[in-house]
Amino acid sequence: VPTGLWDRYGRRATDMRLSLTDKCNLRCTYCMPAEGLEWLSKQAVMTKDEIVRIVRVGVGALGVRELRLTGGEPLVRADLVDIIAALRAEHPDLPISMTTNGVGLDKKAAALKAAGLTRINVSLDSLHEETFTKLTRRPFLDRVLAGVDAAWEAGLGPVKLNAVLMRGINDAESPHLLAWALGCGYELRFIEQMPLDADHGWTRRDMITAAEIREMLSTEFVLSADPRERDGAPAERFEVRRRDAATGEPAGEVLGTVGIIASVTEPFCADCRRTRITAEGKIMSCLFSHEEFDLLGLLRAGATDQQLAERWQDAMWVKPKAHGMDHTGLGAPDFVQPDRSMSAIGG
Ligand code: GTP
Ligand code: 5AD
Ligand code: SF4
Repeated sequence: VPTGLWDRYGRRATDMRLSLTDKCNLRCTYCMPAEGLEWLSKQAVMTKDEIVRIVRVGVGALGVRELRLTGGEPLVRADLVDIIAALRAEHPDLPISMTTNGVGLDKKAAALKAAGLTRINVSLDSLHEETFTKLTRRPFLDRVLAGVDAAWEAGLGPVKLNAVLMRGINDAESPHLLAWALGCGYELRFIEQMPLDADHGWTRRDMITAAEIREMLSTEFVLSADPRERDGAPAERFEVRRRDAATGEPAGEVLGTVGIIASVTEPFCADCRRTRITAEGKIMSCLFSHEEFDLLGLLRAGATDQQLAERWQDAMWVKPKAHGMDHTGLGAPDFVQPDRSMSAIGG
C-alpha cells in the first residue's frame, strides 16, 4: 500500500490543517451569523491527547510535513499552550503555525512561542474602528492590533495578515491597509470572499475579485511578480513599490510583498496539498467537500494507528478535483455551498 495522502488526481496532501474549536469570539459577516452558531459540545471536540494521536498518525504514517492550527478561534481553547507543547515535544522539527483573529493574542503570544509555535497569521480586515466593528460585529480592533504587535515581538514572525475585502465596506481601504502593513513589516494578503458564510449571503457579483484588488492597489503602488517559488501556497505574491503620482512609474525601493488569495477567480485546486481535520475529528479533503469521514469516532472505538491511517487515505482519495465556483457565473448552477461555515471547517 503506498503511504501518503494521495487522491485520484495525483495530488498528495502534506499540509494538515487542524481545527481546535468551532467557537469564536468575533462574528465576521462573511463567516458567522450575528447570533453565533450552535457550538459543539465539549464531549464532541477532540481532546489534547486525541489531537496528539491524530497528528502522530498524520506525520508518522502519512507524510504530513506542516501543521496549521485553526478554529473557529484557536485562542479560545484554554489548553492551547499545552496542546502546542505536547505536539512540539513529539515533533521537534515540524513547522506548526496558527491562524487566529488575534483577540487575546497580546497576552498569549510569548507563551505560544515558548511552547513551540513556529509562526502566526492574523485576520485583520480594517484599521478603522467603525469598519472593523461593522465587519466583525465586535469592537475589538485595539485588542487585535495589540495582538499582532505582541506576536511580532514574541518572535512569531514573519507575521502574515489576512484581509477579506467586502464591497462597499472595506474595499476602498485596501491601499491604506497595505501601506500600513508594509510600514510595520507585516505580509498582508487580500482574500477573495468565498461562499462559506453561515447566512449563505455570498454572491459572485458582490465579491471583490483579485483583478479588482490589483487595480485598486495600482492607484498607489506598482506590483511586480515575486520571484520566489509559489510552492502550492494559496497566495500569489507581488513585490510592492510606490507609484510616482506624476509619472506613473515605480518610485524607490521594494517596500515588501503583498499576497492575493484568489480562491474563486484563479483557483489553485490543481496544486492543493491540504487535508483538514475539523474540531470534532472529521476529515475534510477540501473546504468544499460534501463528504466527511469520522476519524475521531474510529479513534474512540479503539482503532489502531494503521486503521486510522487507512480511513484518512480513503477520505483523501475522493477529494474533489476542484471546487467549481469559477464556472458558476452569477447564477451558480453547478456549485452547491457546503452546510458548514468557515468557522466550522477551520479556515
Ligand atoms: P501560509 O501561506 O503558509 O502562511 O498559510 P495560508 O495562507 O494557507 O493560511 P491561512 O490560514 O492564513 O489562510 C489564508 C486564506 O487562504 C484563508 O483565509 C482562506 O481564505 C484561504 N484558504 C485556506 N485554505 C484554503 C483551501 O484549502 N482552499 C481554498 N480555496 N482557500 C483556502
Ligand atoms: N471567504 C474567505 N476567507 C474567509 N475567512 C473566513 N471566512 C471566509 C470566507 N467566507 C478567512 C478569515 C481568516 C481565515 C481563517 O479565513 O479572514 O483569515
Ligand atoms: Fe471568527 Fe474567523 Fe469566522 Fe471571523 S472569520 S467569525 S474570526 S472564525
